[in-house]
Order: sequence, then structure tokens, then C-alpha cells
Amino acid sequence: MSEREIVEKTEAPATIESLQADLHALGVKPGMIVLVHSSLSAMGWVCGGAVAVIVALQKALGSTGTLVMPSHSPDLTEPSGWESPPVPESWWPVIRENMPAYDPELTPTRSMGIIAETFRKQRGVLRSAHPQVSFCACGPQASHITDNHALAFGLGEHSPLARIYDLHGFILLLGVDHSNNTSMHLAEHRATFPTKRVIQQGAPIATADLRKWATFEDVDIDSSDFDRIGEDFLRSEDGHVVRRGRVGLADCQLMLQRDVVDFTVGWLEENRSN
Ligand SMILES: CC(C)(COP(=O)(O)OP(=O)(O)OC[C@H]1O[C@@H](n2cnc3c(N)ncnc32)[C@H](O)[C@@H]1OP(=O)(O)O)[C@@H](O)C(=O)NCCC(=O)NCCS
Repeated sequence: MSEREIVEKTEAPATIESLQADLHALGVKPGMIVLVHSSLSAMGWVCGGAVAVIVALQKALGSTGTLVMPSHSPDLTEPSGWESPPVPESWWPVIRENMPAYDPELTPTRSMGIIAETFRKQRGVLRSAHPQVSFCACGPQASHITDNHALAFGLGEHSPLARIYDLHGFILLLGVDHSNNTSMHLAEHRATFPTKRVIQQGAPIATADLRKWATFEDVDIDSSDFDRIGEDFLRSEDGHVVRRGRVGLADCQLMLQRDVVDFTVGWLEENRSN
């Protein structure tokens, strides 16, 4: 949607103050750990765009809260698996040989949205070391969440997702649906189902004095059923709470991450049977 169309559908612009009030009404409280997946255009016109959204989130969480966002860079992956777009096979060795190494300060996010990309560059924000599926965080738990992000199984037990799980953190879907709910990939790592496959991934990394193409194992992750899982999660009556409301014009959901992960483990084991 163009900015002109967003202006046309917006009655009054959202401001830091109005966004903070919306976040508060949704249930975002000081001291929480919140992993945010976002779409700026879904919020209606925001005075200050991504910066205003980040400031509002930080004010809502206060100095004791920790804000986390995905800062993935899916272009630093094994090129034989690329789909949008695929590249000719003859290019694969050239890419493996020449793709610049992951640099947490330089490598941009891709497909994470302008809010996550702006947050990545904010002073004091920490970014984890994984070349493909890094996360950014600021706040008291930021280093605990972003440290020691293992290369193998990057959304598994040695990832920021698992640390958020341990710390009883929350997920905020800000104008996006469960197809973007990355924490379900942690459940893919934990669940046992017949179609689960381990694949060989690759990425350019910097070592002490050079750049190299590293290879490592990963789960062959698949988000094609995440929307269905999200719908079933919302319908289920197992006692978990999903707070729903609007931030600006965006439909939002706030939930405890461990509720989603635990529910998804059970769902995958029941439904991904072949
Ligand atoms: C892909 C995705 C980011 C697209 O959302 P989007 O709203 O179109 O894009 P952004 O959040 O980057 O916002 C930029 C858009 O905001 C709009 N915009 C510009 N200024 C604005 C303002 N002041 N106020 C509101 N909207 C504005 C513009 O339309 C702009 O699009 P353009 O750059 O094409 O002109 C979103 O759908 C998504 O998937 N987000 C979740 C990502 C994620 O966490 N993934 C994890 C799964 S692995």
C-alpha cells in the first residue's frame, strides 16, 4: 500500500502518545520482554513512522523492559535453496565464494520491515551472531537473549527464541499474522514428526583474519501451516490468553511466547504426520 493510500484511509495520525496508549490497552507493561513482528503500513499513518513506533514500544516497556525484533538476513544462505528469486546453478559457487561475510553492524535485515531495520541501527541495540536468523534487542535482558547464538539449528535451543522462552517473554504481532510468528520454528525444533528433516545450510562468516563459507546443520523449517496453527491456537481453550486489540489501525495480538511454542509442538506432532 502506498503512503498516499495510507494517508487516505487514516482519520487522525497516530503519534508516540496515542501508540503508547494503544500498547498499554493491549497489555504491554513495563518490565515485559516482548518480541515484535511488525508492519508499519498496517498501522495507518504514523507521525514519525518507524521511529515513533520504536519510541512508543520502548516507553511502554520502560527501562526494565526488553524489546526484541527479528533481524534476519535470508540472502546469506545456501543459494541452491533460494526461491524468490532462484538463481542459475552456475552462480552458486560464485555466491559461496564472494558473498560478503555477515557483519552485525552492516548486514541489513531483509523482509523484516522498516521498524525492525530501523531498530537494528539504534544506538545500544545488540544483535546476535547468526548470519541468517539474528535477533536484535535492547533492555536489561538484551545480552542474555542475543549472546551465544549458535550457528547450527539457528532457531533452536541455542537461539534467542529459546532464551525468550526461558524468560517467559511475550510475542506481539503488530499488524501481521501468525505466518510471521517465528517462535513456531522453535517448536519445529522441539517437536517430533515424520517429515522433519535436517539439512546442510551455508553462510559467509568472518573468522579472525578471513572470510569463509561455513556449513552447518539446520532443521528444514516450513511456515506454510503457521496460519492454521495460529487459528487453532486462538480457538483452543487450553487456558492461554491472547490479548487482541488495535495499535493505530493495525490488528494486533499479544501472547506469552511459551504458550505458542508449547501449543505448536503438540499441533505439529498431531498434524504433520506425513
Ligand atoms: C513484509 C512486511 C514487513 C511488509 O509490511 P509493510 O507494512 O508493507 O512494510 P514496512 O513495515 O516495511 O513499512 C513500510 C511501508 O510503510 C508505509 N509507510 C511509509 N511511511 C509511513 C508512515 N509514516 N506511517 C505509516 N505507514 C508508512 C509505506 O507504504 C511503506 O511501504 P514502501 O516502503 O513500499 O513505501 C510485513 O508484512 C511482515 O511480514 N512483517 C513481519 C516480518 C517478520 O517479523 N518476519 C519474521 C518471520 S521469519
